[in-house]
Amino acid sequence: MAAALQTNTRLNPINVVPGRSLTNPSRAPCRVRCAAASPGKKRFNIALLPGDGIGPEVISVAKNVLQQAGSLEGLEFNFQEMPVGGAALDLVGVPLPEESFAAAKQSDAILLGAIGGYKWDNNEKHLRPEMALFYLRRDLKVFANLRPATVLPQLVDASTLKREVAEGVDMMIVRELTGGIYFGEPRGIKTNENGEEVGFNTEFYAAHEIDRIARVAFETARKRRGKLCSVDKANVLDASILWRRRVTALASEYPDVELTHMYVDNAAMQLIRDPKQFDTIVTNNIFGDILSDEASMITGSIGMLPSASLGVSGPGLFEPIHGSAPDIAGQDKANPLATILSAAMLLKYGLGEEKAAKRIEDAVLDTLNKGFRTGDIYSPGNKLVGCKEMGEEVLKSVDSKVTATV
Ligand code: IPM
Ligand code: MG
Repeated sequence: MAAALQTNTRLNPINVVPGRSLTNPSRAPCRVRCAAASPGKKRFNIALLPGDGIGPEVISVAKNVLQQAGSLEGLEFNFQEMPVGGAALDLVGVPLPEESFAAAKQSDAILLGAIGGYKWDNNEKHLRPEMALFYLRRDLKVFANLRPATVLPQLVDASTLKREVAEGVDMMIVRELTGGIYFGEPRGIKTNENGEEVGFNTEFYAAHEIDRIARVAFETARKRRGKLCSVDKANVLDASILWRRRVTALASEYPDVELTHMYVDNAAMQLIRDPKQFDTIVTNNIFGDILSDEASMITGSIGMLPSASLGVSGPGLFEPIHGSAPDIAGQDKANPLATILSAAMLLKYGLGEEKAAKRIEDAVLDTLNKGFRTGDIYSPGNKLVGCKEMGEEVLKSVDSKVTATV
């Protein structure tokens, strides 16, 4: 059954050798750095950005798992931990210090925890922790965000949907990450001619932005079950009309992929009515944000979902889709599996190290098979563990080189 998890993370959607750049193929991740590695070992620089709330807890667990799985495959990691978000605001007064960005940019791959918290909720916009995420996404140009949502047999009962609806769900949401209403101009809050305050944002997509995310989605669908559903609001929004037109035009280049379109309100409904109808979904930044949270609940918990954000060159950004959960931060209650699975995506998509990635995926399945559960995915008859213990169990499974069988 390991397959369910693996289908989601098998591809390199940018369609290049993982870890290499399309524009500059010589940019192998360890071109220079390999020289410093021990004989027979490959060395990678990994930027760790723990961030806020439960971020540091889940990153510390995932780092150990990454290190262990890597070392069994002859990989050495040079970790550099840097502050971002609220942690950076508290330290130096900005959400993304230059040094943190530089470390991320120069790394081979970035593993991020979570960003944000009540403490900074009333900050002025440019001093909000979330700005760190937006700067990272924009300046690393990681426009393609892959969010797999797979219902694992071990966790069907944790789903909020009925077993027969949830069982077998295996979809990939391809979210556009560096455009749309998140970044569109004009935007702001101002006072209009009647003296009333108005807030406004702009949903903006250039044709090339739609084309490049659509290509990633077609490539992704082609390597999965060959079905792509493009989600938009083309009955209302002009940006969506262009979106639908461009995606439709590209379909002729992918005759093996069956393309459908769906309005986002219907997609939100279909996701809980019959989620198995979806294979690959491609959508804009804000719809992808919303639908991926919805999809996570089908899988049992938002604490299970990893993500990969990729561009055409440079390091990828890998992070759980959950937030910083300040209500449980520091209590050893967080589910580290989404971050551990993000580390697996980092190995596979970021570094092209599929074997090490599979070690992590198998170890997660094995740990679930043994009945270990954090609170968010707990059901009676299982063993309730905290974040650290869950991490230790995954480490044990990595060590025992178990291939999960269900
Ligand atoms: C996500 C998050 C972010 C987003 C927040 C934290 C700004 O919800 O990655 O889905 O909206 O993109
Ligand atoms: Mg979100």
